[in-house]
Amino acid sequence: MSESPEQKRVAFLRSEVARHDERYHRNSDPEITDQEYDALKRELEDLEKSHPELASPDSPTQRVGDDLVDGFESYAHRLAMLSLDNTYSKDEFFAFVERVEKGLELEGVEFVVEPKIDGVAVSVTYEKGKLVRAVTRGNGTEGDDITANALFIEEIPRELIGDGVPDVVEIRGEIYMRNDEFDRINAERNAAGLEEFKNPRNLAAGTVKMLDREEVAKRRLNIVLYGLGFCEPDIAATQSEFHQRLRSWKFPIGKRHWKVTGAQDAWNAIEELDTLRERFEYPTDGAVVKVNRLDHQDLLGKTSKAPRWAIAFKYAAEQSETVLEGITIQVGRTGVLTPVAELKPTQLAGTTVSRATLHNQEEMERKDVRVGDSVIVEKAGEIIPAVVRVVLEKRLAASEPYAFPSSCPECGTEVVKLEGEVAWRCLNPDCPAQVRGRLEHFASRQCMDIEGLGVAVVDQLVDRSLVSNLSDIYRLTFEQLVDLEKFAEKSASNLVAAIEQSKRNDLWRLLHGLGIPQVGAAAAKDLAKAFGSLESLRAADVERLVEVDGIGEKTAQGIVDFFENETNVAVIDTLFALGMEPTAPESVAEGEAIFDGMTFVITGTLPSMKRDEAKALIESKGGKVAGSVSKKTTFLLAGESAGSKLTKADSLGVEVLSEADLLERIG
Ligand code: IVH
Repeated sequence: MSESPEQKRVAFLRSEVARHDERYHRNSDPEITDQEYDALKRELEDLEKSHPELASPDSPTQRVGDDLVDGFESYAHRLAMLSLDNTYSKDEFFAFVERVEKGLELEGVEFVVEPKIDGVAVSVTYEKGKLVRAVTRGNGTEGDDITANALFIEEIPRELIGDGVPDVVEIRGEIYMRNDEFDRINAERNAAGLEEFKNPRNLAAGTVKMLDREEVAKRRLNIVLYGLGFCEPDIAATQSEFHQRLRSWKFPIGKRHWKVTGAQDAWNAIEELDTLRERFEYPTDGAVVKVNRLDHQDLLGKTSKAPRWAIAFKYAAEQSETVLEGITIQVGRTGVLTPVAELKPTQLAGTTVSRATLHNQEEMERKDVRVGDSVIVEKAGEIIPAVVRVVLEKRLAASEPYAFPSSCPECGTEVVKLEGEVAWRCLNPDCPAQVRGRLEHFASRQCMDIEGLGVAVVDQLVDRSLVSNLSDIYRLTFEQLVDLEKFAEKSASNLVAAIEQSKRNDLWRLLHGLGIPQVGAAAAKDLAKAFGSLESLRAADVERLVEVDGIGEKTAQGIVDFFENETNVAVIDTLFALGMEPTAPESVAEGEAIFDGMTFVITGTLPSMKRDEAKALIESKGGKVAGSVSKKTTFLLAGESAGSKLTKADSLGVEVLSEADLLERIG
């Protein structure tokens, strides 16, 4: 029997929602805005409702998004952590209130309206008043134990002091990153030539789930608490009483709460919150409206994934209408074809937007996007602007559906869809767009850092067929380079020298530059440290690779596949034949590792060394250098005008060393 159109649509929506769930919850790297995601999910829910025969218990509509990741112990919540039903519509909000009133057989129900914080859900457990655990939501039933990372958040009280401390309580909240901290980290990354993070919510989520404690210590996270999980014995009869308890125990709580009665007052509070939220120090994306009395909450109960006594009203992201002047297809380094909307420039969230992503073919067809259409573009957070819908009333009679190319616009090769992927890919490894992408990546600051080999130069080299793979870079001659546009003798000889010099780069730079799937700068560094040479990395199997901190099964398999590919092997062999000689991370000879297991923090100006030099020296003796002082710090190396770190070290009883003390210990 062939599939009905509804069946096909449901299957497509399920796989898309699941894919976006994975990107958002596990990888902290969403591709579409929350509103687009919510629309996909809503369409799926509606189809499942109107075609009950298509409903299925393993549909993503029946679960709470799953954020469990490898590397953490999992821990079962005493009371499940649910999600919230959400809406963008006033009518639906009033319908929610009506359902509640009907369920309670009561008019004028009391609600609490709170900010909906856009961060990462967490549950912190206190036993006999002592903080014992912090766990992510996970799949709602069990989450990842991230206590070690949560301990860096000073705002989380280690102990509940005051009245009515229960034997056991789970308190739910949201970990987030402040905008100024987000900007600080990105500025640092920019200076270091690293790719910037997309938005604070993803960075907070990524940080919470990091295994590298030193890195976590360098990023400041904050928290807001708002919900009661398991509790024994009871500590409150209403949500507002619970808030008071939280406040008395010194938890940070939402900036404003409204206790209101009935739908209209609740709605007024939702509108007022929208005018205030921009000034809060945490990102918000809506209002959460909760029935205030806990006994009423119990009466109303819950579905498998959300309570019936609460709803999230989400504020729409900023949108603007403009004209779609054209559609171009970009081919990336990995061969993925991405449709891009070329727009009549329009103002959006403080910037001029002239291009927006159309994501992929399925999304374009769903929205039926055509050249010449008036479209609504949206920008949420720092996410790339996206076309959310077409203004159909303004469609020109002559418009035609867009035909997605069946061949690569760059090289003409027929494109394919790999199993489990929505994207079309060009699989031709010699496709000029991919070749350019790979070379640009290889030479970029985050990889081999070859000065003078930027995008414009790479384009010329590929156009003139002077390079077609990474190893060709090391065959380039002065004569070839001096001939390039905007080149003179000086720039050509500088580039020759920079290329030559790059042969002795740190190993991780080469590993990153090769473009192994999933291997970014951080993973490349971990691999370089663990294996010490490309040869031993190449010889490693999946079992050995997953032993490396931060390397999961998928990445490990990607690495093995990469080194099994003949073309890759040939390029790597040629690179080495042409004199590639990467520098292995300094391994510490035994007996030299006098700082093994010790963590240093460096602050202030040292009399004779730069901080980087001090760091290298400490690391060469087996020590680690972290960014902020905590109980785990062994020594604070302090120089002139040391500030808050010194105060903190004193208060924690961390031993303080001067540069002279350090040199003396090293001998
Ligand atoms: S109450 C059982 N209140 O939003 C109800 N959730 O989209 C639990 N969130 O899973 C949630 N701010 O992670 C609640 N003031 C707030 C919230 C809030 C943010 C998060 C929470 C929830 C998600 C649903």
